[in-house]
Amino acid sequence: MNNIEQVRSDFPILNDLIYLDSASTSLTPKQVVEAMNEYYFRYNANIGRGAYRIAIEASNKVEESRGKIAKFINAKENEIIFTKNTTEAINTVANGLNFEKGDNICLSNIEHHSNLIPWLNLKQKGIKVNIIQANSEGIVEKENIKENINNRTKLIAITHISNSIGSIQDVEAIGKIAHENNSLFLVDGAQSLGHVKVNLKKINADFMAFPGHKGLLGPVGTGFLYLKEDISNELKTINLGGGTITNVEEENFSLENVPQRFEAGTLNISGIIGLNTAVDYINKIKVSNIEKHCAYLTKKIWDKLSKIEGLILYGSEKNTHGIVSFNIDGINSYDVAKILDETRDICVRSGFHCAIPGIKHLNANGTVRVSVHYYNNMSDVEKLANSTEEIAKVFSS
Ligand code: ALA
Repeated sequence: MNNIEQVRSDFPILNDLIYLDSASTSLTPKQVVEAMNEYYFRYNANIGRGAYRIAIEASNKVEESRGKIAKFINAKENEIIFTKNTTEAINTVANGLNFEKGDNICLSNIEHHSNLIPWLNLKQKGIKVNIIQANSEGIVEKENIKENINNRTKLIAITHISNSIGSIQDVEAIGKIAHENNSLFLVDGAQSLGHVKVNLKKINADFMAFPGHKGLLGPVGTGFLYLKEDISNELKTINLGGGTITNVEEENFSLENVPQRFEAGTLNISGIIGLNTAVDYINKIKVSNIEKHCAYLTKKIWDKLSKIEGLILYGSEKNTHGIVSFNIDGINSYDVAKILDETRDICVRSGFHCAIPGIKHLNANGTVRVSVHYYNNMSDVEKLANSTEEIAKVFSS
């Protein structure tokens, strides 16, 4: 299973192109697609409702997935709330927490918009938002956090791995700072899950938001929120409806337990079933092997690109995982990405990567972003580097 070429054969799309945009969404292995097809072809029923056998089978599969995910991040089953993506998970917290006027929230200027806008939106309720400036390597320094919090800091929200330049934050240490200050701690795990070991007992976050479709190799439209059991009653439900109550009378209702009270309406059942298979797939490869391989590729990309004249790299090689952001003098990032795609079938992301303040902080007006997963190999890296060099020769003077 650890043979990269064997793994690549599970991703037929790789026959046609070089995919270097896994930070956006990863590719989906055949096994995951087959698991979703099996649901649709054999036991396509709603969950938690029907008494008939296929409804029970679908319900059991969804709960099996919850259990597997919980184990994967060292959490309890009732701490996993299914959402459609990381963004929805963060919004569930931002809109469900009880803030009082004058409370403040502390976050960094390199957050993805999904870990920025839901908090900025609370300003209209009289909540202050303290934005901490990351250093030039995209690291949020602990001293800087300490200087920006006080006894009204209700929550510190920080990304584990930056989606724009790949910088890795010391979330365990930041969590300690948060809790010593009696603040809640939320981590955006969009770029770390599946790529590096995520252990909630160690990170000790109160909330951690995850996608299913990035590092985990699950389907799009899946994600989940880790909600620490001890504080789950602090979070109000923002969506109510089918599946969220134990009883309803004409005038009143009583809420289900956590997590069901947060999962209103019909879930993405096939997606969650696909996620179950995705976790098995990742476990077979092992996160440690993925981490090692992606660190190796990241280093090689960094080495090769740093030798190209007229190319600017962002962040630092030392603190980057799985993501490399760059620009070429004389040409904008969108055009670089277009040329790579149209002339070499290389897929990379360009622009602000849903992190406009973070990219502006680097004095850039967008970057070209390369991101890898276990299915990438050295041939991908070489083709990227050679093609980028050709572009730089033409445009950079
Ligand atoms: N969050 C995704 C990215 O960084 C969409 O590309």
